[in-house]
Amino acid sequence: MARDYAKHCPLSPMKNCLLVTAIILIITQAVGCQRVKVLKEVEAYPTESVILRCQFVEGAGGETKLTQVSWIWEPVEGQRDNIAVYHPTYGESFPTSVFSGRVSFLQQTLYNPSINITNLRMADAGRFTCEYATYPSGNAQGTTNLVMLARPKNSAFAMTVQANNSGSLVVVAQCVSANGKPGANIKWMGFDDGHENVTFTQAPNGTVTVISQYMIVPKSENHNKDVTCIVNQRTQDKPQTFPVKLSVEYPPSVTIEGYDNNWYMGRSDAFLTCQADGNPAPSVTWNVLSGSMPVTVQINANRLTVRKVDEAVNTTFVCEGKNRLGASKGQVTTTIIAQRKVPAYVPSTLSILGSIVAVITVLALVSGAIIFVRKRKQRAEDADGPPKHKPPPPMKTSSSTEMLNKPLPPPVKTELTQPLSDKSYYETSGEPVTDLDVCDDDDNIGGRAANGGTATNLEDSIEYANNGESFNTEALPPYSNADSHRNEQEPPPPSSSVARGESFVSAAMYV
Ligand SMILES: *[C@@H]1O[C@H](CO)[C@@H](O)[C@H](O)[C@H]1NC(C)=O
Ligand SMILES: *[C@@H]1O[C@H](CO)[C@@H](O)[C@H](O)[C@H]1NC(C)=O
Ligand SMILES: *[C@@H]1O[C@H](CO)[C@@H](O)[C@H](O)[C@H]1NC(C)=O
Ligand SMILES: *[C@@H]1O[C@H](CO)[C@@H](O)[C@H](O)[C@H]1NC(C)=O
Ligand SMILES: *[C@@H]1O[C@H](CO)[C@@H](O)[C@H](O)[C@H]1NC(C)=O
Repeated sequence: MARDYAKHCPLSPMKNCLLVTAIILIITQAVGCQRVKVLKEVEAYPTESVILRCQFVEGAGGETKLTQVSWIWEPVEGQRDNIAVYHPTYGESFPTSVFSGRVSFLQQTLYNPSINITNLRMADAGRFTCEYATYPSGNAQGTTNLVMLARPKNSAFAMTVQANNSGSLVVVAQCVSANGKPGANIKWMGFDDGHENVTFTQAPNGTVTVISQYMIVPKSENHNKDVTCIVNQRTQDKPQTFPVKLSVEYPPSVTIEGYDNNWYMGRSDAFLTCQADGNPAPSVTWNVLSGSMPVTVQINANRLTVRKVDEAVNTTFVCEGKNRLGASKGQVTTTIIAQRKVPAYVPSTLSILGSIVAVITVLALVSGAIIFVRKRKQRAEDADGPPKHKPPPPMKTSSSTEMLNKPLPPPVKTELTQPLSDKSYYETSGEPVTDLDVCDDDDNIGGRAANGGTATNLEDSIEYANNGESFNTEALPPYSNADSHRNEQEPPPPSSSVARGESFVSAAMYV
Protein backbone atom coordinates (compact mmCIF):
# COMPACT_ATOMS: atom_id res chain seq x y z
CA MET A 1 0.00 0.00 0.00
CA ALA A 2 2.59 2.46 1.12
CA ARG A 3 4.11 4.18 -1.85
CA ASP A 4 7.00 6.43 -1.06
CA TYR A 5 7.71 7.47 2.41
CA ALA A 6 7.74 11.23 1.98
CA LYS A 7 10.69 12.45 3.88
CA HIS A 8 10.26 16.16 3.68
CA CYS A 9 13.14 17.08 5.84
CA PRO A 10 15.99 14.65 6.01
CA LEU A 11 18.22 14.56 9.06
CA SER A 12 21.13 15.60 6.89
CA PRO A 13 23.02 18.95 7.21
CA MET A 14 21.13 22.10 6.47
CA LYS A 15 22.62 22.86 3.07
CA ASN A 16 21.54 19.50 1.74
CA CYS A 17 18.14 20.04 3.16
CA LEU A 18 17.90 23.43 1.49
CA LEU A 19 18.73 22.01 -1.92
CA VAL A 20 16.03 19.42 -1.60
CA THR A 21 13.46 21.72 -0.14
CA ALA A 22 13.91 24.20 -2.95
CA ILE A 23 12.09 21.70 -5.13
CA ILE A 24 9.92 20.08 -2.54
CA LEU A 25 8.56 23.33 -1.20
CA ILE A 26 6.74 24.02 -4.42
CA ILE A 27 5.27 20.54 -4.59
CA THR A 28 4.19 20.22 -1.01
CA GLN A 29 3.36 23.85 -0.49
CA ALA A 30 5.02 23.43 2.81
CA VAL A 31 6.49 26.33 4.65
CA GLY A 32 10.01 25.85 5.85
CA CYS A 33 11.76 22.57 6.39
CA GLN A 34 9.16 19.87 6.99
CA ARG A 35 9.62 17.67 9.98
CA VAL A 36 6.33 15.78 9.69
CA LYS A 37 6.80 12.42 8.07
CA VAL A 38 3.77 10.90 6.29
CA LEU A 39 3.07 8.60 3.34
CA LYS A 40 2.24 10.51 0.20
CA GLU A 41 -0.41 8.12 -0.96
CA VAL A 42 -2.19 5.13 0.46
CA GLU A 43 -4.57 2.78 -1.32
CA ALA A 44 -7.37 1.06 0.48
CA TYR A 45 -10.49 -0.97 -0.17
CA PRO A 46 -14.02 -0.49 1.03
CA THR A 47 -14.97 -2.39 4.22
CA GLU A 48 -11.30 -2.82 5.07
CA SER A 49 -9.17 -0.66 7.35
CA VAL A 50 -6.18 1.58 6.72
CA ILE A 51 -3.37 3.00 8.82
CA LEU A 52 -2.39 6.60 8.13
CA ARG A 53 1.09 7.08 9.52
CA CYS A 54 2.49 10.31 10.88
CA GLN A 55 5.71 11.08 12.74
CA PHE A 56 7.34 14.26 14.00
CA VAL A 57 11.06 14.39 13.35
CA GLU A 58 13.11 16.74 15.53
CA GLY A 59 15.38 18.93 13.43
CA ALA A 60 19.10 18.99 14.23
CA GLY A 61 19.86 21.28 17.12
CA GLY A 62 16.33 22.63 17.32
CA GLU A 63 14.31 22.35 20.48
CA THR A 64 10.73 22.41 19.12
CA LYS A 65 7.82 22.41 21.51
CA LEU A 66 4.87 20.34 20.24
CA THR A 67 1.56 21.60 21.46
CA GLN A 68 -0.94 19.24 19.82
CA VAL A 69 -1.58 17.26 16.66
CA SER A 70 -4.71 16.93 14.49
CA TRP A 71 -5.84 14.95 11.46
CA ILE A 72 -7.71 17.01 8.89
CA TRP A 73 -9.73 15.31 6.16
CA GLU A 74 -10.21 17.14 2.83
CA PRO A 75 -12.62 15.16 0.65
CA VAL A 76 -12.86 18.01 -1.87
CA GLU A 77 -11.12 21.33 -2.28
CA GLY A 78 -12.23 23.72 0.39
CA GLN A 79 -13.76 21.25 2.83
CA ARG A 80 -11.64 20.62 5.92
CA ASP A 81 -12.95 18.31 8.60
CA ASN A 82 -11.03 17.74 11.77
CA ILE A 83 -11.43 14.05 12.50
CA ALA A 84 -8.93 13.35 15.28
CA VAL A 85 -6.97 15.43 17.82
CA TYR A 86 -4.36 14.52 20.38
CA HIS A 87 -3.20 16.73 23.19
CA PRO A 88 -0.54 15.57 25.66
CA THR A 89 -2.55 16.88 28.55
CA TYR A 90 -6.17 16.45 27.41
CA GLY A 91 -5.66 13.24 25.51
CA GLU A 92 -7.41 12.18 22.30
CA SER A 93 -10.52 13.68 20.81
CA PHE A 94 -12.63 12.70 17.81
CA PRO A 95 -14.85 15.53 16.60
CA THR A 96 -18.09 14.48 15.01
CA SER A 97 -17.51 13.48 11.41
CA VAL A 98 -18.18 10.70 8.95
CA PHE A 99 -15.31 8.92 10.68
CA SER A 100 -16.86 8.96 14.12
CA GLY A 101 -16.42 5.57 15.65
CA ARG A 102 -14.13 4.41 12.83
CA VAL A 103 -10.94 6.23 13.68
CA SER A 104 -8.42 5.67 16.49
CA PHE A 105 -4.83 6.56 17.38
CA LEU A 106 -2.37 3.73 17.32
CA GLN A 107 -0.29 5.22 20.15
CA GLN A 108 -0.91 7.87 22.79
CA THR A 109 2.06 10.05 21.88
CA LEU A 110 2.64 13.39 20.13
CA TYR A 111 5.60 12.06 18.18
CA ASN A 112 3.64 9.27 16.48
CA PRO A 113 0.01 10.19 15.97
CA SER A 114 -0.71 7.49 13.33
CA ILE A 115 -4.39 6.63 13.01
CA ASN A 116 -6.35 3.53 12.10
CA ILE A 117 -9.52 4.03 10.05
CA THR A 118 -11.80 1.03 9.86
CA ASN A 119 -14.79 -0.04 7.81
CA LEU A 120 -13.72 2.12 4.90
CA ARG A 121 -16.14 3.52 2.34
CA MET A 122 -15.53 4.74 -1.17
CA ALA A 123 -16.40 8.23 0.01
CA ASP A 124 -13.53 8.21 2.54
CA ALA A 125 -11.12 8.99 -0.27
CA GLY A 126 -9.36 12.34 -0.05
CA ARG A 127 -6.45 14.21 1.51
CA PHE A 128 -5.54 13.52 5.14
CA THR A 129 -3.26 16.08 6.75
CA CYS A 130 -1.34 15.42 9.92
CA GLU A 131 -0.96 18.89 11.42
CA TYR A 132 1.18 19.91 14.39
CA ALA A 133 0.91 23.06 16.39
CA THR A 134 4.48 23.84 17.52
CA TYR A 135 6.38 26.48 19.34
CA PRO A 136 8.19 28.61 18.28
CA SER A 137 7.95 27.75 14.57
CA GLY A 138 4.17 27.48 14.32
CA ASN A 139 2.35 24.84 12.34
CA ALA A 140 4.01 21.81 10.69
CA GLN A 141 2.16 19.33 8.55
CA GLY A 142 2.25 16.44 6.16
CA THR A 143 -0.47 15.19 3.84
CA THR A 144 -1.41 11.71 2.71
CA ASN A 145 -3.71 11.04 -0.22
CA LEU A 146 -6.08 8.19 0.49
CA VAL A 147 -7.10 6.45 -2.71
CA MET A 148 -10.08 4.18 -2.47
CA LEU A 149 -9.94 1.28 -4.89
CA ALA A 150 -12.74 -1.15 -5.62
CA ARG A 151 -12.41 -4.66 -6.90
CA PRO A 152 -14.88 -5.09 -9.74
CA LYS A 153 -17.23 -7.99 -10.21
CA ASN A 154 -16.40 -9.38 -13.62
CA SER A 155 -18.59 -11.60 -15.73
CA ALA A 156 -19.27 -12.51 -19.34
CA PHE A 157 -22.10 -14.20 -21.12
CA ALA A 158 -23.45 -14.94 -24.57
CA MET A 159 -26.52 -13.26 -25.92
CA THR A 160 -28.69 -15.67 -27.85
CA VAL A 161 -29.24 -14.23 -31.30
CA GLN A 162 -30.76 -15.33 -34.56
CA ALA A 163 -28.70 -15.94 -37.63
CA ASN A 164 -29.16 -13.11 -40.05
CA ASN A 165 -27.44 -12.69 -43.35
CA SER A 166 -28.58 -9.10 -43.76
CA GLY A 167 -25.04 -8.08 -42.82
CA SER A 168 -25.72 -5.98 -39.76
CA LEU A 169 -23.73 -6.36 -36.57
CA VAL A 170 -25.47 -7.92 -33.63
CA VAL A 171 -24.30 -8.16 -30.03
CA VAL A 172 -23.53 -11.83 -29.44
CA ALA A 173 -21.64 -11.60 -26.15
CA GLN A 174 -21.23 -9.17 -23.32
CA CYS A 175 -18.51 -8.72 -20.76
CA VAL A 176 -19.13 -6.70 -17.61
CA SER A 177 -16.74 -5.34 -15.03
CA ALA A 178 -19.06 -3.92 -12.42
CA ASN A 179 -18.28 -1.25 -9.82
CA GLY A 180 -14.58 -1.21 -10.04
CA LYS A 181 -12.30 1.62 -9.23
CA PRO A 182 -10.64 2.60 -11.36
CA GLY A 183 -12.63 1.38 -14.33
CA ALA A 184 -11.51 -1.87 -15.94
CA ASN A 185 -10.04 -2.38 -19.35
CA ILE A 186 -11.84 -5.02 -21.40
CA LYS A 187 -10.56 -6.77 -24.52
CA TRP A 188 -11.88 -9.59 -26.67
CA MET A 189 -10.32 -12.49 -28.48
CA GLY A 190 -12.62 -13.69 -31.21
CA PHE A 191 -13.26 -13.45 -34.91
CA ASP A 192 -11.43 -11.28 -37.38
CA ASP A 193 -14.60 -9.41 -38.18
CA GLY A 194 -15.72 -8.96 -34.57
CA HIS A 195 -16.46 -5.50 -33.20
CA GLU A 196 -16.44 -4.15 -29.65
CA ASN A 197 -18.58 -1.47 -28.13
CA VAL A 198 -17.55 -0.28 -24.68
CA THR A 199 -19.59 1.83 -22.29
CA PHE A 200 -18.55 3.27 -18.92
CA THR A 201 -20.98 4.13 -16.18
CA GLN A 202 -19.86 5.89 -13.03
CA ALA A 203 -21.80 5.31 -9.84
CA PRO A 204 -22.27 8.02 -7.20
CA ASN A 205 -19.74 6.25 -4.97
CA GLY A 206 -17.10 6.71 -7.66
CA THR A 207 -16.94 3.16 -8.91
CA VAL A 208 -17.16 2.51 -12.61
CA THR A 209 -19.08 -0.21 -14.41
CA VAL A 210 -17.58 -1.13 -17.76
CA ILE A 211 -19.66 -3.07 -20.28
CA SER A 212 -18.07 -4.34 -23.46
CA GLN A 213 -20.30 -5.80 -26.11
CA TYR A 214 -18.97 -8.15 -28.73
CA MET A 215 -20.66 -7.84 -32.09
CA ILE A 216 -20.59 -9.95 -35.23
CA VAL A 217 -22.86 -10.65 -38.16
CA PRO A 218 -24.42 -13.80 -36.74
CA LYS A 219 -24.31 -16.86 -38.95
CA SER A 220 -25.36 -20.41 -38.21
CA GLU A 221 -21.74 -21.58 -38.33
CA ASN A 222 -20.91 -19.25 -35.43
CA HIS A 223 -23.11 -21.29 -33.13
CA ASN A 224 -21.14 -22.82 -30.25
CA LYS A 225 -17.98 -20.99 -31.27
CA ASP A 226 -15.85 -19.56 -28.47
CA VAL A 227 -14.85 -15.97 -27.91
CA THR A 228 -12.88 -14.79 -24.89
CA CYS A 229 -13.26 -11.69 -22.80
CA ILE A 230 -10.17 -10.40 -21.00
CA VAL A 231 -10.58 -8.02 -18.06
CA ASN A 232 -7.72 -5.96 -16.71
CA GLN A 233 -8.11 -3.84 -13.61
CA ARG A 234 -5.80 -2.10 -11.17
CA THR A 235 -6.80 -4.25 -8.21
CA GLN A 236 -6.19 -7.54 -10.04
CA ASP A 237 -2.86 -9.32 -9.98
CA LYS A 238 -3.47 -10.61 -13.48
CA PRO A 239 -6.07 -10.32 -16.24
CA GLN A 240 -9.21 -12.33 -15.75
CA THR A 241 -10.40 -14.27 -18.80
CA PHE A 242 -13.88 -15.50 -19.62
CA PRO A 243 -14.50 -17.93 -22.47
CA VAL A 244 -17.96 -17.46 -23.93
CA LYS A 245 -19.73 -19.96 -26.16
CA LEU A 246 -21.84 -18.16 -28.70
CA SER A 247 -25.46 -19.08 -29.17
CA VAL A 248 -26.83 -18.46 -32.63
CA GLU A 249 -30.28 -19.72 -33.49
CA TYR A 250 -31.10 -20.81 -37.01
CA PRO A 251 -33.91 -22.64 -38.77
CA PRO A 252 -33.57 -26.36 -39.56
CA SER A 253 -32.03 -27.87 -42.64
CA VAL A 254 -32.88 -31.48 -43.38
CA THR A 255 -31.13 -34.32 -45.17
CA ILE A 256 -32.14 -37.97 -45.30
CA GLU A 257 -29.46 -40.60 -45.16
CA GLY A 258 -29.46 -44.35 -45.45
CA TYR A 259 -31.10 -45.09 -48.81
CA ASP A 260 -28.65 -47.24 -50.76
CA ASN A 261 -30.68 -47.87 -53.95
CA ASN A 262 -30.88 -51.49 -53.00
CA TRP A 263 -34.24 -51.97 -51.34
CA TYR A 264 -35.06 -55.40 -52.68
CA MET A 265 -38.12 -57.41 -51.84
CA GLY A 266 -37.79 -59.10 -48.48
CA ARG A 267 -34.89 -57.02 -47.22
CA SER A 268 -35.11 -56.66 -43.46
CA ASP A 269 -32.56 -54.05 -42.48
CA ALA A 270 -33.55 -51.07 -44.60
CA PHE A 271 -33.58 -47.78 -42.75
CA LEU A 272 -33.53 -44.03 -43.24
CA THR A 273 -32.10 -41.37 -40.94
CA CYS A 274 -33.34 -37.83 -40.92
CA GLN A 275 -30.53 -35.38 -40.18
CA ALA A 276 -32.20 -32.17 -39.11
CA ASP A 277 -29.69 -29.47 -38.21
CA GLY A 278 -30.93 -26.39 -36.44
CA ASN A 279 -30.83 -24.37 -33.23
CA PRO A 280 -32.87 -24.92 -31.17
CA ALA A 281 -32.73 -28.64 -31.96
CA PRO A 282 -35.54 -29.30 -34.42
CA SER A 283 -38.30 -31.80 -33.85
CA VAL A 284 -38.52 -34.45 -36.56
CA THR A 285 -41.60 -35.97 -38.17
CA TRP A 286 -41.78 -38.67 -40.83
CA ASN A 287 -44.45 -38.95 -43.51
CA VAL A 288 -45.06 -40.48 -46.89
CA LEU A 289 -45.70 -38.20 -49.84
CA SER A 290 -49.06 -39.82 -50.53
CA GLY A 291 -51.20 -42.24 -48.62
CA SER A 292 -50.45 -43.42 -45.13
CA MET A 293 -47.32 -44.70 -43.51
CA PRO A 294 -46.84 -48.40 -44.39
CA VAL A 295 -47.39 -50.71 -41.44
CA THR A 296 -44.02 -52.38 -41.94
CA VAL A 297 -42.33 -49.12 -41.05
CA GLN A 298 -41.09 -48.41 -37.52
CA ILE A 299 -40.26 -44.86 -36.54
CA ASN A 300 -37.99 -44.02 -33.66
CA ALA A 301 -37.25 -40.30 -33.48
CA ASN A 302 -35.22 -39.45 -36.57
CA ARG A 303 -34.77 -43.08 -37.62
CA LEU A 304 -37.15 -44.93 -39.88
CA THR A 305 -36.75 -48.67 -40.09
CA VAL A 306 -38.45 -51.02 -42.56
CA ARG A 307 -38.89 -54.39 -40.96
CA LYS A 308 -39.54 -56.09 -44.27
CA VAL A 309 -39.27 -54.45 -47.65
CA ASP A 310 -42.31 -54.96 -49.87
CA GLU A 311 -44.37 -52.99 -52.38
CA ALA A 312 -45.84 -50.90 -49.59
CA VAL A 313 -42.57 -49.02 -49.12
CA ASN A 314 -42.22 -48.39 -52.86
CA THR A 315 -42.94 -44.76 -52.08
CA THR A 316 -41.49 -41.38 -51.15
CA PHE A 317 -40.67 -40.71 -47.52
CA VAL A 318 -40.69 -37.14 -46.26
CA CYS A 319 -38.95 -35.90 -43.14
CA GLU A 320 -39.73 -32.53 -41.68
CA GLY A 321 -37.55 -30.72 -39.14
CA LYS A 322 -39.12 -27.89 -37.20
CA ASN A 323 -38.02 -25.37 -34.62
CA ARG A 324 -39.40 -22.00 -33.65
CA LEU A 325 -37.47 -20.29 -36.40
CA GLY A 326 -38.88 -22.40 -39.17
CA ALA A 327 -39.31 -25.76 -40.81
CA SER A 328 -37.58 -27.68 -43.52
CA LYS A 329 -38.38 -30.86 -45.40
CA GLY A 330 -36.34 -33.52 -47.04
CA GLN A 331 -37.58 -36.49 -49.07
CA VAL A 332 -36.34 -39.67 -50.60
CA THR A 333 -38.05 -41.98 -53.07
CA THR A 334 -37.36 -45.57 -52.21
CA THR A 335 -37.72 -47.72 -55.29
CA ILE A 336 -38.33 -51.36 -54.55
CA ILE A 337 -36.49 -53.81 -56.71
CA ALA A 338 -37.18 -57.50 -57.12
CA GLN A 339 -33.67 -58.77 -56.66
CA ARG A 340 -30.85 -57.74 -54.50
CA LYS A 341 -28.27 -55.77 -56.42
CA VAL A 342 -24.75 -57.00 -56.25
CA PRO A 343 -23.00 -54.18 -54.53
CA ALA A 344 -21.50 -51.89 -57.08
CA TYR A 345 -17.79 -52.01 -57.32
CA VAL A 346 -16.70 -49.17 -55.18
CA PRO A 347 -13.11 -48.20 -55.66
CA SER A 348 -11.45 -48.44 -52.35
CA THR A 349 -7.87 -48.00 -51.37
CA LEU A 350 -7.47 -51.74 -51.60
CA SER A 351 -8.93 -52.00 -55.06
CA ILE A 352 -6.89 -49.03 -56.24
CA LEU A 353 -3.85 -50.80 -54.91
CA GLY A 354 -4.99 -53.89 -56.76
CA SER A 355 -5.29 -51.92 -59.98
CA ILE A 356 -1.82 -50.54 -59.54
CA VAL A 357 -0.43 -54.02 -59.03
CA ALA A 358 -2.33 -55.20 -62.12
CA VAL A 359 -0.95 -52.34 -64.20
CA ILE A 360 2.55 -53.06 -62.99
CA THR A 361 2.11 -56.72 -63.84
CA VAL A 362 0.90 -55.89 -67.33
CA LEU A 363 3.78 -53.48 -67.81
CA ALA A 364 6.20 -56.12 -66.64
CA LEU A 365 4.72 -58.63 -69.07
CA VAL A 366 4.81 -56.19 -71.95
CA SER A 367 8.37 -55.13 -71.27
CA GLY A 368 9.28 -58.79 -70.85
CA ALA A 369 7.80 -59.47 -74.25
CA ILE A 370 9.64 -56.52 -75.75
CA ILE A 371 12.90 -57.69 -74.27
CA PHE A 372 12.17 -61.13 -75.54
CA VAL A 373 11.58 -59.92 -79.08
CA ARG A 374 14.59 -57.61 -78.93
CA LYS A 375 16.83 -60.36 -77.73
CA ARG A 376 15.54 -62.57 -80.37
CA LYS A 377 16.26 -59.99 -82.98
CA GLN A 378 19.58 -59.25 -81.44
CA ARG A 379 20.50 -62.81 -81.34
CA ALA A 380 19.65 -63.12 -84.96
CA GLU A 381 21.66 -60.01 -85.68
CA ASP A 382 24.46 -61.35 -83.62
CA ALA A 383 24.44 -64.30 -85.83
CA ASP A 384 25.58 -62.14 -88.69
CA GLY A 385 26.21 -58.83 -87.03
CA PRO A 386 28.97 -57.62 -84.75
CA PRO A 387 29.19 -59.15 -81.30
CA LYS A 388 27.99 -56.99 -78.53
CA HIS A 389 28.10 -58.64 -75.20
CA LYS A 390 29.45 -62.01 -75.98
CA PRO A 391 32.34 -63.40 -74.04
CA PRO A 392 35.60 -63.78 -75.85
CA PRO A 393 36.00 -66.82 -78.03
CA PRO A 394 36.77 -70.04 -76.29
CA MET A 395 40.30 -70.75 -75.40
CA LYS A 396 40.51 -73.53 -77.79
CA THR A 397 40.79 -71.02 -80.55
CA SER A 398 44.45 -70.49 -80.95
CA SER A 399 45.98 -67.27 -79.80
CA SER A 400 47.04 -66.63 -83.31
CA THR A 401 43.46 -66.77 -84.39
CA GLU A 402 42.48 -64.30 -81.75
CA MET A 403 45.16 -61.91 -82.75
CA LEU A 404 44.12 -62.21 -86.26
CA ASN A 405 40.56 -61.59 -85.34
CA LYS A 406 41.04 -58.29 -83.69
CA PRO A 407 42.14 -56.24 -86.62
CA LEU A 408 39.70 -58.00 -88.83
CA PRO A 409 36.19 -56.90 -89.42
CA PRO A 410 35.07 -58.62 -86.28
CA PRO A 411 31.48 -59.55 -87.00
CA VAL A 412 31.78 -62.79 -88.73
CA LYS A 413 34.64 -64.14 -86.84
CA THR A 414 33.40 -63.65 -83.32
CA GLU A 415 30.01 -64.47 -84.54
CA LEU A 416 31.03 -67.80 -85.59
CA THR A 417 33.06 -68.69 -82.60
CA GLN A 418 30.49 -67.32 -80.26
CA PRO A 419 27.52 -69.47 -81.04
CA LEU A 420 29.77 -72.39 -80.94
CA SER A 421 31.00 -71.73 -77.48
CA ASP A 422 27.45 -71.07 -76.40
CA LYS A 423 26.31 -74.25 -77.87
CA SER A 424 28.98 -76.32 -76.38
CA TYR A 425 28.25 -74.80 -73.03
CA TYR A 426 24.52 -75.17 -73.19
CA GLU A 427 24.59 -78.60 -74.52
CA THR A 428 26.13 -79.78 -71.32
CA SER A 429 24.11 -77.64 -69.03
CA GLY A 430 20.90 -78.08 -70.89
CA GLU A 431 19.68 -74.97 -69.15
CA PRO A 432 17.56 -72.81 -71.35
CA VAL A 433 18.89 -69.32 -71.74
CA THR A 434 17.41 -66.51 -73.71
CA ASP A 435 19.65 -66.93 -76.63
CA LEU A 436 19.26 -70.59 -76.61
CA ASP A 437 15.54 -70.34 -76.19
CA VAL A 438 15.34 -67.99 -79.05
CA CYS A 439 17.37 -70.39 -80.95
CA ASP A 440 15.13 -73.21 -79.93
CA ASP A 441 12.06 -71.34 -80.91
CA ASP A 442 13.51 -70.32 -84.15
CA ASP A 443 14.52 -73.78 -84.82
CA ASN A 444 11.18 -75.13 -83.92
CA ILE A 445 9.74 -73.06 -86.63
CA GLY A 446 12.76 -73.24 -88.71
CA GLY A 447 13.15 -76.90 -88.01
CA ARG A 448 12.56 -77.16 -91.61
CA ALA A 449 15.37 -74.77 -92.10
CA ALA A 450 17.55 -77.00 -90.10
CA ASN A 451 16.23 -79.95 -91.91
CA GLY A 452 16.12 -78.42 -95.29
CA GLY A 453 18.61 -75.74 -94.68
CA THR A 454 16.17 -73.32 -96.22
CA ALA A 455 14.80 -70.09 -94.94
CA THR A 456 11.60 -69.95 -92.98
CA ASN A 457 8.98 -67.33 -93.28
CA LEU A 458 10.06 -65.80 -89.99
CA GLU A 459 12.26 -62.82 -90.38
CA ASP A 460 14.48 -63.91 -87.57
CA SER A 461 14.70 -67.33 -88.89
CA ILE A 462 15.48 -66.02 -92.30
CA GLU A 463 18.34 -64.02 -90.97
CA TYR A 464 19.39 -66.89 -88.96
CA ALA A 465 18.96 -69.29 -91.74
CA ASN A 466 20.91 -67.07 -94.02
CA ASN A 467 23.59 -66.97 -91.56
CA GLY A 468 23.24 -70.55 -90.71
CA GLU A 469 23.34 -71.62 -94.27
CA SER A 470 27.03 -71.36 -94.34
CA PHE A 471 27.52 -73.66 -91.45
CA ASN A 472 24.31 -75.57 -91.35
CA THR A 473 25.79 -78.18 -93.47
CA GLU A 474 28.44 -78.63 -90.94
CA ALA A 475 26.20 -78.05 -88.01
CA LEU A 476 23.65 -80.54 -88.98
CA PRO A 477 25.57 -83.70 -88.91
CA PRO A 478 26.52 -83.74 -85.25
CA TYR A 479 22.98 -82.91 -84.17
CA SER A 480 21.27 -85.30 -86.36
CA ASN A 481 22.53 -87.88 -83.96
CA ALA A 482 21.05 -86.10 -81.00
CA ASP A 483 17.39 -86.24 -80.19
CA SER A 484 15.05 -84.50 -82.55
CA HIS A 485 14.80 -81.47 -80.38
CA ARG A 486 18.42 -81.17 -79.88
CA ASN A 487 19.27 -81.48 -83.48
CA GLU A 488 17.31 -78.34 -84.04
CA GLN A 489 20.08 -76.53 -82.27
CA GLU A 490 21.99 -76.13 -85.35
CA PRO A 491 25.40 -75.01 -84.17
CA PRO A 492 28.18 -77.29 -85.17
CA PRO A 493 30.70 -78.77 -82.79
CA PRO A 494 33.23 -76.30 -81.54
CA SER A 495 36.13 -77.69 -83.31
CA SER A 496 34.57 -77.68 -86.69
CA SER A 497 33.16 -74.22 -86.22
CA VAL A 498 36.44 -72.89 -85.06
CA ALA A 499 38.09 -74.26 -87.98
CA ARG A 500 35.41 -72.86 -90.11
CA GLY A 501 35.56 -69.50 -88.42
CA GLU A 502 39.24 -69.33 -89.01
CA SER A 503 38.90 -70.12 -92.58
CA PHE A 504 36.06 -67.73 -92.93
CA VAL A 505 37.78 -64.99 -91.07
CA SER A 506 40.92 -65.31 -92.97
CA ALA A 507 38.93 -65.23 -96.12
CA ALA A 508 37.17 -62.09 -95.04
CA MET A 509 40.42 -60.62 -93.97
CA TYR A 510 42.01 -61.13 -97.23
CA VAL A 511 38.98 -60.06 -99.17
C1 LIG B 1 -7.22 -1.26 12.88
O1 LIG B 1 -8.47 -1.47 13.51
C2 LIG B 1 -9.09 -2.69 13.17
C3 LIG B 1 -10.44 -2.72 13.87
O2 LIG B 1 -10.33 -2.47 15.20
C4 LIG B 1 -8.22 -3.85 13.60
O3 LIG B 1 -8.83 -5.04 13.21
C5 LIG B 1 -6.88 -3.72 12.95
O4 LIG B 1 -6.02 -4.73 13.41
C6 LIG B 1 -6.27 -2.38 13.29
N1 LIG B 1 -5.00 -2.23 12.56
C7 LIG B 1 -3.86 -2.08 13.24
C8 LIG B 1 -2.60 -2.00 12.39
O5 LIG B 1 -3.77 -2.00 14.47
C1 LIG C 1 -32.29 -9.77 -40.16
O1 LIG C 1 -31.98 -8.40 -40.10
C2 LIG C 1 -32.86 -7.56 -40.77
C3 LIG C 1 -32.31 -6.16 -40.71
O2 LIG C 1 -31.65 -5.93 -39.53
C4 LIG C 1 -34.24 -7.69 -40.13
O3 LIG C 1 -35.16 -6.90 -40.81
C5 LIG C 1 -34.68 -9.13 -40.18
O4 LIG C 1 -35.89 -9.29 -39.50
C6 LIG C 1 -33.65 -10.02 -39.55
N1 LIG C 1 -34.00 -11.41 -39.73
C7 LIG C 1 -33.99 -12.27 -38.72
C8 LIG C 1 -34.35 -13.66 -39.08
O5 LIG C 1 -33.74 -11.93 -37.58
C1 LIG D 1 -22.56 1.03 -28.54
O1 LIG D 1 -23.41 0.97 -27.41
C2 LIG D 1 -24.12 2.15 -27.18
C3 LIG D 1 -24.89 1.99 -25.89
O2 LIG D 1 -25.55 0.75 -25.85
C4 LIG D 1 -25.05 2.44 -28.36
O3 LIG D 1 -25.73 3.63 -28.16
C5 LIG D 1 -24.20 2.54 -29.60
O4 LIG D 1 -25.02 2.70 -30.73
C6 LIG D 1 -23.38 1.28 -29.78
N1 LIG D 1 -22.49 1.43 -30.89
C7 LIG D 1 -22.49 0.55 -31.87
C8 LIG D 1 -21.50 0.79 -32.94
O5 LIG D 1 -23.26 -0.39 -31.89
C1 LIG E 1 -20.96 1.60 -5.45
O1 LIG E 1 -22.29 1.81 -5.84
C2 LIG E 1 -22.90 0.74 -6.55
C3 LIG E 1 -24.28 1.17 -6.94
O2 LIG E 1 -24.38 2.53 -7.02
C4 LIG E 1 -22.94 -0.47 -5.66
O3 LIG E 1 -23.51 -1.53 -6.37
C5 LIG E 1 -21.54 -0.84 -5.25
O4 LIG E 1 -21.56 -1.92 -4.36
C6 LIG E 1 -20.87 0.34 -4.59
N1 LIG E 1 -19.54 -0.03 -4.33
C7 LIG E 1 -18.92 0.22 -3.20
C8 LIG E 1 -17.54 -0.26 -3.07
O5 LIG E 1 -19.46 0.81 -2.34
C1 LIG F 1 -42.49 -48.95 -57.65
O1 LIG F 1 -43.03 -47.77 -58.17
C2 LIG F 1 -42.61 -47.47 -59.48
C3 LIG F 1 -43.24 -46.16 -59.87
O2 LIG F 1 -43.41 -45.33 -58.81
C4 LIG F 1 -43.02 -48.56 -60.41
O3 LIG F 1 -42.51 -48.30 -61.70
C5 LIG F 1 -42.44 -49.86 -59.92
O4 LIG F 1 -42.91 -50.92 -60.70
C6 LIG F 1 -42.84 -50.12 -58.49
N1 LIG F 1 -42.22 -51.31 -58.03
C7 LIG F 1 -42.84 -52.22 -57.32
C8 LIG F 1 -42.04 -53.40 -56.91
O5 LIG F 1 -44.01 -52.12 -57.06
